[in-house]
Amino acid sequence: MTKTLLRALAGETLPNPPIWMMRQAGRYLPEYRATRAEAGDFLSLCYNPDLAAEVTLQPIRRYGFDAAILFADILLLPQALGADLWFVTGEGPRLSTITGPEGMRGLKGKDDIHDHLAPVYETVRILTRELPSETTLIGFAGAPWTVATYMIAGRGTPDQGPAHALREGDNATFETLIDLLTESTIEYLSMQVEAGAEVVKLFDSWAGSLKGDAFAKYALAPAKRIISELKARHPGLPIIAFPREAGDNYIGFAKAVGADCLAIDNSVSATWAAENLQSDSCIQGNLAPGHMVTGGQALIDETRRIVEAFRGGPHIFNLGHGITPDADPENVQLMIDTVRETPKR
Ligand code: CP3
Repeated sequence: MTKTLLRALAGETLPNPPIWMMRQAGRYLPEYRATRAEAGDFLSLCYNPDLAAEVTLQPIRRYGFDAAILFADILLLPQALGADLWFVTGEGPRLSTITGPEGMRGLKGKDDIHDHLAPVYETVRILTRELPSETTLIGFAGAPWTVATYMIAGRGTPDQGPAHALREGDNATFETLIDLLTESTIEYLSMQVEAGAEVVKLFDSWAGSLKGDAFAKYALAPAKRIISELKARHPGLPIIAFPREAGDNYIGFAKAVGADCLAIDNSVSATWAAENLQSDSCIQGNLAPGHMVTGGQALIDETRRIVEAFRGGPHIFNLGHGITPDADPENVQLMIDTVRETPKR
């Protein structure tokens, strides 16, 4: 096994961590903006396999990242299930809402998603042919709770209020939705793997707003179910879990759900994470995305600090969340150069 990302995911401590970035194909790159304009809009880009493969490859060509992440979105699955979805430029996603049992009635079943998602699987197949042999292809989906927050509210929300309200006010409907998402996510990711994804990542961007028992029930349990079923179907498949802003709930998470790698945000310290999390699994993440905007010595210092902190175990260098549209592409190169040149002990 020569691909560095797969080696880190298998638990190997490497002299230099492999690197990729959340949202590495995105608006900070002029070539992405040009291809998106050619596609017309964001969703048309997601459903055009040739162009989606093209934007997936752009950051690989420019920077030689060790992994490519399939270009798609976590909200394509709700759309495949029958939710309305559109993006308002400058604002973000809009969907039909779910406020009670009637909101579930129009939705399809877990096995009825594949016609709609066929272009995504085709993108994966194109990438398996076109990626350099040293680059690992990552597939992904949103975790049930995070996807549910958008399906319930019909948009992104600062505190996931509507989803918490449904969870507390009509728990039966809420749990029906979580179960449908859990089961359809298994089918969706399984098809990505069959098409050629070598690793899958589960994005639970809003896991941090689940506290206590709710975290165990709606972040941990669905991830565990998805991961154990995927591993049963695809033995040896490496899986990255990202329960963002989980804080102390990061402790033991990778082991409990069976993930090979825990992705962490930038609200926890790297030294704390190395001490408390790295013995369970490979660690990925932690650099604040804002450094990609501001650059300079602070970017260099923070990058070195993170590389140093995780040097004693398996580590994949990444940001704590997605790179933002105002980032400077030069700062990405500075980060990569810093990771690759950080003096080895
Ligand atoms: O990381 C990558 O390069 C792969 C592609 C990818 C996108 N979205 C492309 C995208 C991935 C892995 C995602 C995941 C995603 N999508 C998440 C989880 C990760 C996270 O960021 O917390 C979430 C919550 C979404 C839902 C979503 N998609 C929102 C809230 C938005 C609007 C916010 C924004 O940045 O504009 C999107 C749009 C989106 N998804 C863009 C991209 C490149 C920007 C769309 C554009 O080109 O206008």
